[in-house]
Amino acid sequence: MEIASKKNIAIVEDSAHALGTQYKGKHVGQRGTSIYSFHPIKNITTGEGGMICSDDRTLLDCARRLRFHGLGVNAFDRKIQGRDPNAEVLEPGYKYNLTDISAALGISQLVRINAFILKRTELAMLYRKLLTEIPEINPLHDPPYSIKHAWHLFIVRVDTDKTGMSRDDFMIRLKEKNIGTGLHFRAVHLHKYYMNSMEMRRGMLPDTEWNSDRICSLPLFPDMTPDDVNDVVNAIKEVLKKG
Ligand SMILES: Cc1ncc(COP(=O)(O)O)c(C=O)c1O
Repeated sequence: MEIASKKNIAIVEDSAHALGTQYKGKHVGQRGTSIYSFHPIKNITTGEGGMICSDDRTLLDCARRLRFHGLGVNAFDRKIQGRDPNAEVLEPGYKYNLTDISAALGISQLVRINAFILKRTELAMLYRKLLTEIPEINPLHDPPYSIKHAWHLFIVRVDTDKTGMSRDDFMIRLKEKNIGTGLHFRAVHLHKYYMNSMEMRRGMLPDTEWNSDRICSLPLFPDMTPDDVNDVVNAIKEVLKKG
């Protein structure tokens, strides 16, 4: 941020996971431009869609225009604000407007965000406590500065040396015990498309690759109970015993 303000560089934050996250006491997205995702697995959802927040008026006006055919006004403006029905295309745009139904869902979800995060935090802290008994499973650490985590995901690293089992096998074995896990996310540069089109290869980003090979997201959603977290951790213990 400091470098950006000195050099007058615009920063666009990928805040897809970060609704409710605070960094050094401030909400992310309070400054500059941030984009949030309201995809169904995120902390709040509108079914699909998201939100752009920015302190750049020109950028926001442009986004508003482009999301609805590049028209100077949208259907809501024309109906409610009694504007001329002859809306005009100011530039070629898209049909990216959020539906009213999605927006209604989003508004009802937004008022619950703090309760959702509180519940996620309690469950995440319970995971952290119970996982201290399993040295093969390493949760992520808090950074050395003040944060409020939104706990969209609970990611752990599977110590493949200690388990003698690959992360993928670990996930399959948990699935056999009816515990679904996720993989967020494989290193981008190792996807076939980027390897083929940009000559990316294994070895270019060793730390990213190390994590990419070991990460696994454990189940975490506000309707889970502490017993559910216990069930997941017990299933992990059983899987590792078998391994
Ligand atoms: C880090 C990150 N950025 C961007 C996106 C894209 O969000 P959307 O699916 O709402 O376009 C996602 C979706 O999961 C994400 O995890």
